Amino acid sequence: MRYADIDWNMLWQQARQKKSWKGKKKKDWDRRAASFAKRNLGSDFSDLCLQMIHPDPSWTVLDVGCGPGTLAIPLARQVKRVTAMDFSEQMLAELALRVKEAELGNISSVHASWRDDWQEHGIERHDVVVAARSLAVDDLGAALAKMVRWAKKEVIVVDRVGPGPFDPDLFAALGRPFEPGPDFIFTVNILFQMGITPSLDYLEFDLQRQYADRHEAIEGCSWMVDDLSEAERPRLEQYVDERLSANQGGGVTLTRKKPVKWAFIRWKINE
Ligand SMILES: C[S@@+](CC[C@H](N)C(=O)[O-])C[C@H]1O[C@@H](n2cnc3c(N)ncnc32)[C@H](O)[C@@H]1O
Repeated sequence: MRYADIDWNMLWQQARQKKSWKGKKKKDWDRRAASFAKRNLGSDFSDLCLQMIHPDPSWTVLDVGCGPGTLAIPLARQVKRVTAMDFSEQMLAELALRVKEAELGNISSVHASWRDDWQEHGIERHDVVVAARSLAVDDLGAALAKMVRWAKKEVIVVDRVGPGPFDPDLFAALGRPFEPGPDFIFTVNILFQMGITPSLDYLEFDLQRQYADRHEAIEGCSWMVDDLSEAERPRLEQYVDERLSANQGGGVTLTRKKPVKWAFIRWKINE
């Protein structure tokens, strides 16, 4: 077999079907929006990404799957204009709150999904198109090609490495099989077959997470698991208790065995 004969997009789709959790739907993201915003705005993730992005003041940026504005808000402080797109109304509501608080006049939001006709939503081409932790699509090749079509200068993707934010130890504690599904290496291979040789870096963080109390730590881990049963709940609590320590100033810290790792993938557009 030749490398060129490998259908990476199909392999990606097959690997995706085997993963140990269901794809999150709009209503799942709506439900998670407030806690996601609390945890991610001003987070290490957002700071590290901004350092890697090196925003240029002249840029217009389209942030696809922007969530509560993890990157869109700090980017808007440093670039000319940001369009923040998401299919979750609640995520956009969280974003709107932060935009108002920060009195940012150069950020607009669009309620749309990867699949929609972006032209119909009035979205123009932007200098830079970003998708951070948001490539939740059925056809990865098509999504990457769409980002390329909408970008004038550059595309930036933040994609999972291995299990990403999912902790295999939690699945082991519950007695569930763990199959993380595809990660960034499929993305890089699909890009390569599209004639794109992206630059690649890695971000590592979240070895420890701070929570207000044990209850919040338990809730903060339960999102990883679909349909947690009554029998599994004590096992999840035990997983948390074994990793929890009290902080000096109140609150608790949950320590994982390994940090969460993301791939930072970017490439320039050849006009
Ligand atoms: C893990 S969050 C990432 C948010 C933000 N980019 C960040 O890095 O913090 C994934 C986001 O993608 C959005 N999303 C998932 N599938 C989507 C789709 N098909 N179209 C548009 N947005 C989507 C979700 O609503 C959610 O806000």
